[in-house]
Amino acid sequence: MHFRISPSKIGDATVTVPGDKSVSHRALMLGSIADGHTNVSGFLAGEDCLATMVAMRQLGVDIQQASATEISIEGVGLRGLRQAAGPLDLGNSGTAMRLMAGLLAAQHFHSTLVGDESLSKRPMGRVIAPLTKMGAAIDSDCDGSPPLQIAGGLRLHGIDYSMPVASAQVKSAVLLAGLYADGATSVTEPDITRDHTERMLRSMGVPVMTEGNRISIKGGQALRGCPVQVPADLSSASFLMLAALLAENADVLISNVGVNPTRTGVIDILQGMGADLVLENTRLLGEEPVADLRVRSSRLHGVSVDPALVSLAIDEFPVLFVAAAAARGKTVFSGIGELRVKESDRIAAMSDGMRKLGIIVDESPDGAVVQGGLFRGGAVESFGDHRVAMSLAIAATVAVGEVLIRDVDAVETSFPGFADCMASIGADIRVEEGGRE
Ligand code: S3P
Repeated sequence: MHFRISPSKIGDATVTVPGDKSVSHRALMLGSIADGHTNVSGFLAGEDCLATMVAMRQLGVDIQQASATEISIEGVGLRGLRQAAGPLDLGNSGTAMRLMAGLLAAQHFHSTLVGDESLSKRPMGRVIAPLTKMGAAIDSDCDGSPPLQIAGGLRLHGIDYSMPVASAQVKSAVLLAGLYADGATSVTEPDITRDHTERMLRSMGVPVMTEGNRISIKGGQALRGCPVQVPADLSSASFLMLAALLAENADVLISNVGVNPTRTGVIDILQGMGADLVLENTRLLGEEPVADLRVRSSRLHGVSVDPALVSLAIDEFPVLFVAAAAARGKTVFSGIGELRVKESDRIAAMSDGMRKLGIIVDESPDGAVVQGGLFRGGAVESFGDHRVAMSLAIAATVAVGEVLIRDVDAVETSFPGFADCMASIGADIRVEEGGRE
């Protein structure tokens, strides 16, 4: 599929975006190994989370889906998972593969994890290393990429691990394995990353200790199933936020969005660029803070983005490239090398897209300098990456000509209904069958 987008009039609107991807994955995995029942509302029925759901079912868990966003999980307890009949296919999802590696490293049976072309190129050594230290045995392709063969029947022991990269996926994999390990497991992160795993474990009755950047858990503790209300995904909301900011005269309210402080870097960065972006009605939804985000058209200016915010805005850099390109002056991104190993090389993919739309970008191995300018029309590539496709769609709403964004199927992994949602705030967006322009 392609998106064809014409210059748009984003106006006043109230919208919702789908549920949080990170929280939805965790609800499935933790609900599955809890004792008792876990009802999940606001679940993200995107391809990534559906892959996790299918995998948990293959591991013997009864998961019913009453509607797209409501699921109920009959937990099988810490030791109740069964060997899957074949490989678990985690599609495009790095979160699913890395967290499942931690969960499956301590089971009494063997597992095989596979993924699509993009996932098959992503680095798994970062989870294999700490899990191996805990006593697990995981085989991968020679360069540490999937498929992963995870041996069963091994006894794990707790470790005290300092992560070389800031990654919530690695932290979560180690904590999940730590649930099964003898003794205590600690992980120290170089920068704070999203803490949804820690919050959900606590809400299921498992104490998790956090002292600064060090997170610890004791093995052998049972989880208690509980209701999980999934907030709307701030990462998905950020596309709508930017569309409203760049528009001529818009006032858009995005309701019920997760504003966990380990995720809100994008809000801080955009406010630093001059965005009129306000959190209203901040409240708690279970363990997670949520707010309604009010976003009004603003004149953005370039900034040097504080590297301390990188891990708190890790998935929003593609859309921040668009903010930078639409801002007055230049924006400097540094310390964003991790973007090169996401669903695509996002520094390269966004630089390519911005240049094709007439923007000057200088790339470096772990950063980029973007000169603000005007987007012209043209044809751009998503590189099979959902967030690249959606970011380019936002640029297209304010381009001077029509923009064709090729190969946007991956948008379904995290934001089903994106085109309709954009149209509901005034975007002139058409979804076309792939192949021909
Ligand atoms: C995620 C963590 C992040 C993020 C991904 C979701 C998670 O990855 O990019 O989309 O749910 O834990 P890293 O932790 O590897 O940076």
